Amino acid sequence: MNKINETVQTDIDNSVLCWLATADISGVPNVSPKEIFSSYGDNRIIIADIASTNSVRNIRANPNVCVSFIDIFRQRGFKIVGKAVIIEKTEANFASAGARVLKMAGDDYPVRRIISIDIEKISPIWAPSYKLFPDRSEADRMQGAYDTYAVTPKPLVE
Ligand SMILES: Cc1cc2nc3c(=O)[nH]c(=O)nc-3n(C[C@H](O)[C@H](O)[C@H](O)COP(=O)(O)O)c2cc1C
Repeated sequence: MNKINETVQTDIDNSVLCWLATADISGVPNVSPKEIFSSYGDNRIIIADIASTNSVRNIRANPNVCVSFIDIFRQRGFKIVGKAVIIEKTEANFASAGARVLKMAGDDYPVRRIISIDIEKISPIWAPSYKLFPDRSEADRMQGAYDTYAVTPKPLVE
């Protein structure tokens, strides 16, 4: 799979952050969390560079990246491999490609540049419990995560 469909988009929306892995030209890896990320069309992931000096430096030397994100309560998500480019503020497509992340970042978090990832491959990430306990309901799985992380979900407001 190499396109963002509804399932992938739902997990992007339900993920608190993604993890961006890059490597320099010698192959030395770097991985760091990014909260301000979004899809762009069905074939790109956009990440706001607010404080991503190492990721940006690596991408300029080596465009190969991997980004993963999970919905921690449903215990599943996706891993995306692709090629990244850095879009500077001065470039014509900064505002269009960056529209969503600029809105998410707001005025408090200045976006220096945009990391735009052309998707080559999307693979699912599942917690081992999906294979080990396939009959477990989503509600039970979520309750297990709430218990593990000592979280009490807010009641839904109708
Ligand atoms: C919860 C969390 C969310 C973050 N979100 C972002 C982000 O959206 N954009 C960004 O540039 N840095 C973000 N950071 C900061 C970088 O991950 C951090 O500065 C990192 O040490 C350096 O990133 P680098 O490896 O790309 O240089 C976040 C850090 C944390 C802990």
